[in-house]
Amino acid sequence: MALSRRTFSALAGTAALGLALGGSGGTGALSAYAAREVPTGPPPPAPSVDGRRHTVGFDHYSLLVDGRRLVLWSGEMHPFRLPSPSLWRDVLQKMRAHGHNAVSIYVSWNYHSPAPGRYDFTGVRDLDLFLRTAAETGLYVVLRPGPYINAEIDGGGFPGWLTTTEGRARTADPTYLKHVDEWLTHVDSIAARHLFTRGRGTVLLYQIENEYDSYVHDATGRAYMSHLYKKVRADGIDVPLFHNDKSRNGYWTPGTFDTGGEKGRWLYGFDGYPSPSKTPPDWGRFGTGGATGGTTASPRTPGFVPEFGAGWFDPWGGYWFKGEGYEGSRRTRDAAYERRFYLTNLANGITLHNTYMAFGGTSWGWLPAPVVYTSYDYGAAFTEGRQPTDKLVPMHQIGHMLQRVPDFAKLDRAPDVEAAGLTTYHLKNPDTDAHVYVLRNDGDKEVSSTLRAGGEDLPVTVPGRDARLLVAGLSLGQRRLRYATAQPMLFQAAGRQDVAVFCGRRGDMARVVVECAEEPLVSRLSQQAAYVYDRGLLRVTVPLGAGGLIGARVEGGDGVDRPLLLLFADETTSLRLWPYDTPSGPLLVYGPKLLRTAVLSGSTVHLTGDTVEATDLEVWGPRGIDTVTWNGRAVRTSATGSGSLRAVAPLAGVPKVELPALGGWRMRTENPEAGPDFDDTAWQVADKAASHSTTAVPAGQPVLFADDYGFHYGDVWYRGTFTDATGIESVSLAHSTGTQGLLMAWLDGEPLGSHRMPVPDGDTIRRGTWTDTAVLPVPRRLRTGGRHVLSVLVRRMAHDQDGKAQDTHKAARGLTAVTFTGGSPRVRWRVQGGTAPDPVRGPLNNGGLYGEREGWHLPGFPDGDWEPVAFPRAARRQGVTWYRTTFELAVAPGVDASVGLTLDDDPNRAWRAQIFLNGWNMGQYINDVGPQHTFVLPNGILRTRGTNTLALAVLSERTTLSGPGQVRLTLLGSAAGGVPVTPVPSPGR
Ligand code: GAL
Repeated sequence: MALSRRTFSALAGTAALGLALGGSGGTGALSAYAAREVPTGPPPPAPSVDGRRHTVGFDHYSLLVDGRRLVLWSGEMHPFRLPSPSLWRDVLQKMRAHGHNAVSIYVSWNYHSPAPGRYDFTGVRDLDLFLRTAAETGLYVVLRPGPYINAEIDGGGFPGWLTTTEGRARTADPTYLKHVDEWLTHVDSIAARHLFTRGRGTVLLYQIENEYDSYVHDATGRAYMSHLYKKVRADGIDVPLFHNDKSRNGYWTPGTFDTGGEKGRWLYGFDGYPSPSKTPPDWGRFGTGGATGGTTASPRTPGFVPEFGAGWFDPWGGYWFKGEGYEGSRRTRDAAYERRFYLTNLANGITLHNTYMAFGGTSWGWLPAPVVYTSYDYGAAFTEGRQPTDKLVPMHQIGHMLQRVPDFAKLDRAPDVEAAGLTTYHLKNPDTDAHVYVLRNDGDKEVSSTLRAGGEDLPVTVPGRDARLLVAGLSLGQRRLRYATAQPMLFQAAGRQDVAVFCGRRGDMARVVVECAEEPLVSRLSQQAAYVYDRGLLRVTVPLGAGGLIGARVEGGDGVDRPLLLLFADETTSLRLWPYDTPSGPLLVYGPKLLRTAVLSGSTVHLTGDTVEATDLEVWGPRGIDTVTWNGRAVRTSATGSGSLRAVAPLAGVPKVELPALGGWRMRTENPEAGPDFDDTAWQVADKAASHSTTAVPAGQPVLFADDYGFHYGDVWYRGTFTDATGIESVSLAHSTGTQGLLMAWLDGEPLGSHRMPVPDGDTIRRGTWTDTAVLPVPRRLRTGGRHVLSVLVRRMAHDQDGKAQDTHKAARGLTAVTFTGGSPRVRWRVQGGTAPDPVRGPLNNGGLYGEREGWHLPGFPDGDWEPVAFPRAARRQGVTWYRTTFELAVAPGVDASVGLTLDDDPNRAWRAQIFLNGWNMGQYINDVGPQHTFVLPNGILRTRGTNTLALAVLSERTTLSGPGQVRLTLLGSAAGGVPVTPVPSPGR
């Protein structure tokens, strides 16, 4: 049926009414459902800790916060992937400044729980601090504590110890649920202190489980989801709960499982990771999802994508991006991708939008799941080194628009329109009659076309594989916009005037037409702005990008008493425009690379932020502002004709940052465990007969799986003692490690050889099992009687994730079976992994290398008697060699330098290194696999004004010469500004 415009909004009204009836069973006033049709109006103010009660409800258009419509423009970051709490504030402030009003976070169970019953939320694990920082930044939080999270993290977030428990995870198994409840109790006791509903924080939404598409139609799946729901509610979490359907399957929509009688407090959300080379999918207002798909699956809840691809991860060897690493991810999901896909999402009625990832960060230590290497940069809008990229252009422009143009919170589908050569979407706000057009070009070539809007034929040009958004009929305060051929970025008050910003591509001709029954007075702020008044319409035309910010001021006529300032910005200019809300009203700042905070006191506005180049500063503030400070220093300004204060001289850029060359290395070899006389009596005897692992225990052999002996992360050593090697030709060592695992073996101290898992490709990534058997010949001279010791070092990488709820995280790690040809000696095994977890750095910092057990990675370890050495170095050896040095940094105060460590060598050399900075395991470099060469050293762990200790634990395979070759510090970016950084405790020996 073709719906007329009228019928369509009438139907929308019916949906809202039905929702009100459905909501009558809801409990408590705190998360009220929409009880009536909620009109379009100003959005709620940025959230803060105000001690007041708030309601969080929704209807099928949007969230309703205290009854006001809120569009959520959220980005994902993982506190556990940035082990320096001060830098959380840096990333959050950057996200807020660039248009986000929410941050979505996973909380990873394994990061907080070294052992059953033991939980740690201190230091780099301080969830309370993260939530406080988000609230102080003015961001809502979408909290996602699993218990399963996937996230390309060890075990998908399950703690190592859970692999040794009985009962199938991600089901209603009672043992599993007992552990889950313990975890949720801990997380929820912190989350409950930060609920937005209570005015104690900004936690707005809470996710249970993650992309749970197993047992969807089984009792155990429903019972599990129901258990989680009720547990979280019992813990006092009263914000709306939701789940992220793995795709638009229509799984876990309201009513599909028992919520204990509660209604109207459950949102349906689905994730989307479409291929950038395909056409963006429709799944809502324009979709064909039918009864089960997309937003149509849950007609009473607003369109919600808890995760929408903003990049993609990369495995060891760089399979996805052909060795290009995360720059390949960023290139294939660039700004145009974001604009094209996210605008399509908006057109489909998505008003809760979270990009995965906004800031990817680092899977430091033993965090990375087998499918990824250390960097989790993800090709996100902010790099792993916290640097902004061009991908922020659409994030910034769309994000600010959604928060500052209220019409976008309530859009219905409107009659189809045409623009030849383009895919078009037409939406309309039923209250304001504002029209929104998304025009998408799915071809590779630029298309110039015409769109009928605002009563005229508008010329539109859309580059290949890009999109743009046009509006007609928007209210601009006391005036009304007939149409604009440039995208609105914001509309706000600034003192006695209103400001509207329009943005587009450099080189585009922007046309903005404002309805003015009487001719207004127009002052051009830049020569490039042209205007003409004709029969009730003021037409302003501006070539974008020709000279930065271009503007015109419109005053008088029609009884209007507030001037309207029209500003025009191209991509780079829009990224220097910063709206900011203060208790005295909004302000707009133009110029610097970043605006972090703005505080008004008396007639002074105190700004903080970053500059890179020397830059202008211009401020449109609330009334009465006459003085400006920047990062604590007074700025001389003069008043302009556009009602702003402009700095008389530019703000200074960042001074050059010099990094020292690294030298003064000392080395020491280890692996005494390989020797026959090594004392292993303190090691555990490996003689268990049964395991909860999904890997079968071989008949007649003991359990050798490292987890069963409490060693869950990093390297593990085995020593097997037996008598009589006469006739033994070879030993077969079956092992299971995750991708790029490595095994090295010795008999009586003599190297037998090494074995490594293959570099992952499409097939192995999909299959996800990395088990193999190393068959190592035994040299004739060792085939003797008497006592022998077989020493084996297994670098296991991480536990598998458990995406399909098959307990795959319980696949064994370490040796799994050992057999011999030419004999079958009885072997008595002992096993040793990491000793007690580092109390500050946590359980995932260390494995069981000798040097780690002895503290060689720690600052202050006495290495004075180690052998001095210089790089590049090339030696042939099987085993472990450590290198240590210290270096001083003296980065100027007030400069935020982001520093990385870069390693390079002949790519044929088979060696790898774990990188320890001040005792913190910053990741793993595999020289002949890559693709990662530069490792981010986060400030806080890195002393930017002081002494640092660097230690490399190098594993060499003896098949080739082994480095290190070049090891150097790299500057990843710098800015004058930054946040104060508290040193992260880094205890030494
Ligand atoms: C999603 C999942 C995330 C992450 C992402 C890929 O399916 O929910 O945790 O794994 O895929 O990066």
